[in-house]
Formats: sequence, structure tokens, C-alpha cells
Amino acid sequence: MNWQFTGYELTDETVRQDLNVVTALLRSTYWAADRPQSVMERSMRNSLCFGLFHEAVQIGFARVVSDFATVGYLCDVVIADGHRGKGVGKWMLNCILEHPQLKGCRIDLFTKDAQEFYRAFGFGPHRYTNMVRYPPSTSSTAS
Ligand SMILES: CC(C)(COP(=O)(O)OP(=O)(O)OC[C@H]1O[C@@H](n2cnc3c(N)ncnc32)[C@H](O)[C@@H]1OP(=O)(O)O)[C@@H](O)C(=O)NCCC(=O)NCCS
Repeated sequence: MNWQFTGYELTDETVRQDLNVVTALLRSTYWAADRPQSVMERSMRNSLCFGLFHEAVQIGFARVVSDFATVGYLCDVVIADGHRGKGVGKWMLNCILEHPQLKGCRIDLFTKDAQEFYRAFGFGPHRYTNMVRYPPSTSSTAS
């Protein structure tokens, strides 16, 4: 699928994702700075990936790991610095949440400091206690 918004394009087509751009974007984040490119590539191959483009150049990314029936895990949401604060993130998230394969799913996410960004879409604390297990000695693959 493809969506358009004031000079921006969002696509869920895996082949359109620019691995080098996504790597650079994710390397700039607090959660994936050390993630090897091979791990990024594998994670993208097994996720529903969203690529955000401006003038045919990829400037944003997000992915969802899902069974497309009950639950989706939204992660690796990032937009290049120069394109932030213009409402593009809000538009991208709205497209993701309205995606026909995700619309009926509960969407999980973790964030260190962007709670206010997500709250506007109805995200809040999980009704039960959430727990997580990080893989032993592989912090580079954990987010
Ligand atoms: C988070 C991110 C994707 C938001 O995209 P964006 O295009 O800058 O966001 P928007 O301009 O659409 O902002 C929408 C609203 O969310 C708010 N917002 C944006 N980023 C926020 C953040 N990090 N924390 C809290 N609120 C935020 C904006 O102030 C705006 O509020 P308003 O509607 O009341 O004016 C982008 O800032 C980014 O890539 N940040 C670095 C990576 C990151 O932290 N990703 C999230 C990890 S969970």
C-alpha cells in the first residue's frame, strides 16, 4: 500500500526499503545504535515495514511484527531529524494504525520518552503487568 501527504509518501512495500538509510536512521536512536546491519536486515525481512519518503529519498521508518489477527508489536519508529515536528510522524502512525492488516489488532510498544506522541492515538498502560525477557548477552538485538 502507498499513502501520500504534502510531499511525503509512505509505503509498506518491503522492496522499497533502503537498508542503508534505515541502518543510518536506526543507528541514530538510543535503542538500536549498536544493532548490526545484518540483524536489521533480518528483522525487516520478517516484519511489516513502513518506509517514509520525501522527494524519492527515504527519511523515515517503522515496522510492525504481527500475526495480523490479534496483536502487533510496533517498533523502530524513527524520522530523520530535519523532517521532525511537522506532523509527518502523526500522519505515519495514523496510516500504520489504519492499515487493513493491523486495524483489528492490539498494538504493543515500548518507549523511553515519547509517551505523549503515542498517547494521542489512544496508547496507554497495558491493563495487565507487562514483562519482558532480554536475550542473555545480546543487548545489541534488544530494543
Ligand atoms: C517520535 C517521532 C517519530 C515523531 O515524529 P514527528 O514527525 O516529529 O512528530 P509530529 O510532528 O507528527 O508530532 C505529533 C505530536 O507528537 C508530539 N511529539 C513528537 N515527538 C515527540 C516525542 N519524542 N515525545 C513527546 N511528544 C512528541 C509533537 O509535539 C506533536 O504534538 P501536538 O500534536 O500536540 O503538536 C520523531 O520525533 C522521531 O523520529 N524521534 C526520534 C526517534 C524516537 O524517539 N522514536 C520513537 C521511539 S518509541
